[in-house]
Amino acid sequence: MLTFNRGLIIFFLFFLISNCQQQQMEDTTSVESGKNEGVLAKNGMVVTAHPLASQVGLAILKKGGNAFDAAIAVQYALAVVLPKAGNIGGGGFMVYRTKDGENGALDFREKAPLKGDRDMYLDKKGEPIKNLSLKGHLAAGVPGTVAGMDAAFQKFASLPFSEIIQPSIDLAQNGFELTEYEADLLNRFQEDFKAINLHTPYLVREEEYQEGDSIYHTDLAKTLERIRDNGKDGFYKGETADLIVKEMKAGKGIISLEDLASYEAKWRKPIIVNYRGHKVISMPPSSSGGLVLGQLLKGSEYFDFPSFGVNTTKSIHVMTELQRRAYADRAEHMGDMDFYEVPIDMLLEDSYIKNRISDITMDSATSSQVIKSGKVNTIESFQTTHFSIVDKEGNAVAITTTLNSYFGCKVMVDGAGFFLNNEMDDFSIKPGVPNQFGLVGAEANAIAPGKRMLSAMTPTIIEKEGKLFMVVGTPGGSTIITNVYQVILNVIDHGLTMQEAVDAKKMHSQWLPDRIIAEKGCLDSLTIDALQHLGHEIKEINTIGRIEAILVKEDGTYEGAADKTRSGDAMALGY
Ligand code: GLY
Repeated sequence: MLTFNRGLIIFFLFFLISNCQQQQMEDTTSVESGKNEGVLAKNGMVVTAHPLASQVGLAILKKGGNAFDAAIAVQYALAVVLPKAGNIGGGGFMVYRTKDGENGALDFREKAPLKGDRDMYLDKKGEPIKNLSLKGHLAAGVPGTVAGMDAAFQKFASLPFSEIIQPSIDLAQNGFELTEYEADLLNRFQEDFKAINLHTPYLVREEEYQEGDSIYHTDLAKTLERIRDNGKDGFYKGETADLIVKEMKAGKGIISLEDLASYEAKWRKPIIVNYRGHKVISMPPSSSGGLVLGQLLKGSEYFDFPSFGVNTTKSIHVMTELQRRAYADRAEHMGDMDFYEVPIDMLLEDSYIKNRISDITMDSATSSQVIKSGKVNTIESFQTTHFSIVDKEGNAVAITTTLNSYFGCKVMVDGAGFFLNNEMDDFSIKPGVPNQFGLVGAEANAIAPGKRMLSAMTPTIIEKEGKLFMVVGTPGGSTIITNVYQVILNVIDHGLTMQEAVDAKKMHSQWLPDRIIAEKGCLDSLTIDALQHLGHEIKEINTIGRIEAILVKEDGTYEGAADKTRSGDAMALGY
């Protein structure tokens, strides 16, 4: 009798708990469209992280330049007005779609110097030396941006290069006013600038920077003039190259004249997947962005996201499960495909995806330890920048570009006026040891001379019924891919406008650490409870990413959505 009663009680309790879980899964509130739109325009749209860069891009479009002219102009403008991430001392990726529907991808990611080797950040015991891949001269990869812009210019530009780059030279030479955000950042990194540089960079000063202060980048203006007059040789050869190598020698860095002279940007075949009838075009390795995004979208087709709603227990649970698996694949299989055979086709095969998601259930979280083990820190830095541009003909460009951390390795090239990246930290400096974003890697992403480090940057363009539909991307380190993914779902599955999709709060998970991070306000307390019941650990943080995106509405109008809620400086400008 007692046994029967206990069994009955256990059954009853189980019934109550699962019923309660089910209710919690259904009780959560979802974000719905109030049709709040961003900036609307018919002829062209430029969305960047800085108002002056958006103005430069718009002016190029208005004077008859195409989206590629505007993109090159914006990249150089960001190097002047947004030195924490905009750059000529870093690298990035471009995905494009021309007015005729041709698409492609350009890889101008930094490379490991020829003198680099797989153990260069390890001590004699084989342990990573703290901060060596993050700060100082040895953290810098060979910059790719100027070669990337040159390749884009040679293939697509319609205006003379001098007209495209001149606005940036003028900004650097004649000065411009700091925004509050940029002034704060310059103040915040004064100690690093002083400690890491062997000379005193001109950005170091006694009194604090204030919003509205005029700032001049005179040395950078001269470097940009050399690029204007000599093309990419103005950077990779001659005076600029000499200044970089002199800086390297002074700080025990290893980038050589040979590294610079031999750097080339690469045209690549984009990753293309179909998502609920949309053609999604994104970045192939050396970025993991397109492949991971492709896996997430293909996996999502097996779930009824439209009925789940935005940021509900069900949607967050399934997104987390998909992300867990895709990031585990990233760690194992992804790296520079010029050096490592990345199994692109296999990772996107229908049967592979189906098998990979076959153990996802709606009633519990899978432990990441079951998928694979590892030990990681936390995500610390989100310093990259993205811009999206469409011209009146319908040419579309998505570029994500970076120095990696704020102001890269914090080394400013003496006499040349620009910061160098610390992209070497994106390599797997030791198998299983996390980088600053908590990402782990293996052989696929080990350091080798001339190899590109794996990125998460995800510049993406989407077509619907053969026509341009969306241009999207964001900074955010490892959160880039999941942020782009959610914005796509927000528009395609949940019917949000571009602006609403950008503004909506985001979550992120990446296999390891085995937890969900969520922007404050993303999850209500009921949803947090329900997710914890399923076995998820949740950590709330202030912000994730800063999407800059464009949607083409049914009538052909462009909706530009700048992420003003996370950065007041972001700006969409159309005409
Ligand atoms: N440095 C960040 C990334 O490339 O993903």
